[in-house]
Amino acid sequence: MDYSASSSYESKSITTLRLQYMKQSGIKIVCLTAYDALISKIFDECGIDVILVGDSLGNIVQGNETTLSVTLEETIYHTKAVVKGAKRPLIIADMPFMTFQVSADEAFRNAGRIMKETGCAGVKLEGASENILQGISRMTESGIPVMGHLGLTPQSINKFGSYKARGKEEKEAEKIYNDALKLQEAGAFSIVLEKIPSELGKKITESLSIPTIGIGAGPYCDGQILVYTDMLGLTVDFNPRFVRRYARLNDEIKLAVKNYIEDVKNQDFPSIEESY
Ligand code: KIV
Repeated sequence: MDYSASSSYESKSITTLRLQYMKQSGIKIVCLTAYDALISKIFDECGIDVILVGDSLGNIVQGNETTLSVTLEETIYHTKAVVKGAKRPLIIADMPFMTFQVSADEAFRNAGRIMKETGCAGVKLEGASENILQGISRMTESGIPVMGHLGLTPQSINKFGSYKARGKEEKEAEKIYNDALKLQEAGAFSIVLEKIPSELGKKITESLSIPTIGIGAGPYCDGQILVYTDMLGLTVDFNPRFVRRYARLNDEIKLAVKNYIEDVKNQDFPSIEESY
């Protein structure tokens, strides 16, 4: 089936309401990250439902070990570009570390800046502490749609100590489950579940009326998300079980660039036909 914007499948812009309908109708929600207009335009043309300007940009674009150093200004810069590239997908910006944890007021103000300055459709943030829940309530009451994020939350890497799966022990599984209910109660329109057992993903998905988006959370979630550079095989040194590679662009780029180098060195490029 052709899911692209030009097909009859769905040409209107995706809204949070549409995601709700998709959950109720059992239509899977397909999401990818993007960090620039070039890529978001391609994903739009393919029919992607949701684009997340993830703070994974800290790893992917900036080459950092963690996501912690991403700033509000950098998120705004990349989200603006992604918004320019895509029309149909719902575009969500990830709130960077320490832009929403300090107080509900600060979270609210920063989310407002992201929305106003980028034109995106909502924000995502990790965790469900009291402060964060208050911030989410303020945002949703004022028209800022919020996506939650539970399970492995990369901004807490220094607390977790590793990127291993979360919620394997009963106590932690129960906390993740209860946090999901609290996020829904606070007004979140959707929740990303990262690297948790499939059975926990299933239980949360069945208990919530809002859609769950899994990344390493099994097949029962209402939707799936992957970091685009992983699924396209641009990144090759990150190989968790949950990544399926749909292309090997790293190899393809290397082959193309090596051929270009060879052609220029051998004076095969440019040819007379490629000159003025
Ligand atoms: O930052 C990101 O890319 C994310 C996704 C992995 C869900 O949070």
